[in-house]
Order: sequence, then C-alpha cells, then structure tokens
Amino acid sequence: MDALLSRLFSSEEEERYILDCMGYFMVFMAACTFVSLLFENVPYGRYATSKYGFPVNVKFAWFVQELPAFLLPFCLVFWTSSAKTSLLPNQLLIAMYFCHYVQRALIYPFLIRGGKPTPLMSFVLAFVFCMYNGYMQVRYLSHYAEYPASWITQPCFIIGSVLWLVGWLVNVHSDHILRNLRKPGETGYKIPTGGMFEYVSGANFLGEITEWAGFALAGHSVHSSAFAIFTTVVLASRAVAHHKWYTEKFEDYPKNRKALVPFLF
Ligand SMILES: NC(=O)c1ccc[n+]([C@@H]2O[C@H](COP(=O)([O-])OP(=O)(O)OC[C@H]3O[C@@H](n4cnc5c(N)ncnc54)[C@H](OP(=O)(O)O)[C@@H]3O)[C@@H](O)[C@H]2O)c1
Repeated sequence: MDALLSRLFSSEEEERYILDCMGYFMVFMAACTFVSLLFENVPYGRYATSKYGFPVNVKFAWFVQELPAFLLPFCLVFWTSSAKTSLLPNQLLIAMYFCHYVQRALIYPFLIRGGKPTPLMSFVLAFVFCMYNGYMQVRYLSHYAEYPASWITQPCFIIGSVLWLVGWLVNVHSDHILRNLRKPGETGYKIPTGGMFEYVSGANFLGEITEWAGFALAGHSVHSSAFAIFTTVVLASRAVAHHKWYTEKFEDYPKNRKALVPFLF
C-alpha cells in the first residue's frame, strides 16, 4: 500500500495538498448536487427509475457500493506506515468513522426488507463516492491530522463526539423502525411510528446528518466538514421529498410531523 501511494504522489506535501483539494472539490460537488436536487430526487428507493440504468439487486448494491468505504480505510490504517494512528484524538475519530461503516457496509445491506432495486448509475456513483470519501477521511486522519494533546478535552471535541453518538443511535434506530414496517416478502410502504419518526418524516436522515456534523465538529478539518455538508445536502433533500410523498399518499399522515427538524422544518 505504501508503494502504491508513493507511486501516486511524489511527496507527502503533494498528497496532503491533493487531500485538501478533494475536500474543497466535495464542497463544490455538494453545491452542484444541491442545484440538481431542486429538479429531481436522488434516483433510488421509491424514486428509482429505469432512466438511470438497469436495476441492481438492492442488497448487492448496498453491500458493494459501501464496501470501499470500509475496505480502503482498513487497508490505509493497517497496511500503510500511517504516522498518526498512535495518537488518541486520531484514534477516536477513526473509530467513529469505522463504527458507522462497519454497520453500513457489513450489516445494513443484509437486513434490508423488500427494498427497491437500485438503478445502475446510482449504484456506480455511490461506489465512487464511498471510495473517494473513505480515502479522504481516513488517509487524512491516519497520516496527516495533527491535534494538540489536550484536543479530546476541548468543548468542540466533546460536543462533536456526543452529537456523533446521538446521531448514530438515531440513524440505526430509525432504519430499524423502517425495516420492521414490512413483514418478510412485503414491499409496500406504511406510516413509520416511534422514535424520532414521531417528530420528523426523515428520522434516519436527521440521525445521519447529526452524526457527520458532530464528526466534523470533533475533527475540525475541511475533509470532515465537506462530508458533513455533502451528507446534509443529499439527505435534507431526501427528507423533504419523503415528507411530501407521505403527505400525498396517506390521508391520515400525522399533521404535526415535520420533514427533518422537529417542530421547525
Ligand atoms: N451519508 C450519505 O450521504 C447517505 C446517502 C444516502 C443514504 N444514507 C443512509 O443510508 C440509509 C438508507 O438510506 P435511504 O435513502 O435508502 O433511506 P429510505 O429511503 O428511508 O429507505 C430505507 C429503507 O427502508 C425502506 N422504507 C423506507 N420508508 C418506508 C416505509 N414508509 N415503509 C416501509 N419501508 C420503508 C426502504 O424501502 P424502498 O427501497 O422500497 O424504498 C429502504 O429499504 C439511511 O440511514 C441514510 O441515512 C446516507
């Protein structure tokens, strides 16, 4: 792995520079995505359409598209001379990242019940995103990020870590509620209830946005901030679209439920 990286980059300064550029480019892509989502929903799940390629089995798609977000960082941490993995702040941030992606890549895909097939283009874009983001987050944290020794006692690290944990729990719990709306073999939609779904239609998205916002606060880097911004753009749009879809489909949909932010939005 070190040999591969040294072929790709002539020096550490160059790799560090590329990592920063990747962060800024992700912010740029978030802005482009924001504009495109004003016209069309991200085409998978209930919005899947054949316009974006042939349908890929949903469990296969989620497993394969998310796998690089786990495997590539795993190789970066364990098979490179990663200079910063012995430092506690870096270790904790890397642990947060892995906690999410072990669940998302290795557990979540196999629990899906009756999910719609994923169009090829959405699958390929998600695969590329996971590889890009996995490299950017974990290479930065494992080899370049430098925090003061007292970083983990600073308010932004503590508050960020708590937000990350609360967000992760809300996300996993909300996905669990959605999954259990369907009996084995069912593919239709029902009104979700319980947990944060009592307040918002996009409870799983609210959890994930909170999680990566917390990670960005704790990590204080362009790389983690770019990921939080990109996630917010994609998932806020999806929460708004789901909320509209629910209110149109179900006459008895709870009137006081918001799209993404309890009591507000
Ligand atoms: N970080 C990121 O940028 C990012 C991007 C995308 C997704 N994610 C995360 O990935 C996870 C899944 O995302 P998603 O967009 O697929 O979520 P979703 O649209 O809420 O769907 C999640 C699963 O639940 C099913 N489902 C949803 N609503 C249902 C209902 N009312 N009744 C019965 N079943 C229902 C869906 O089936 P169908 O397939 O049949 O709709 C799908 O299998 C979430 O935790 C999300 O936060 C993260």
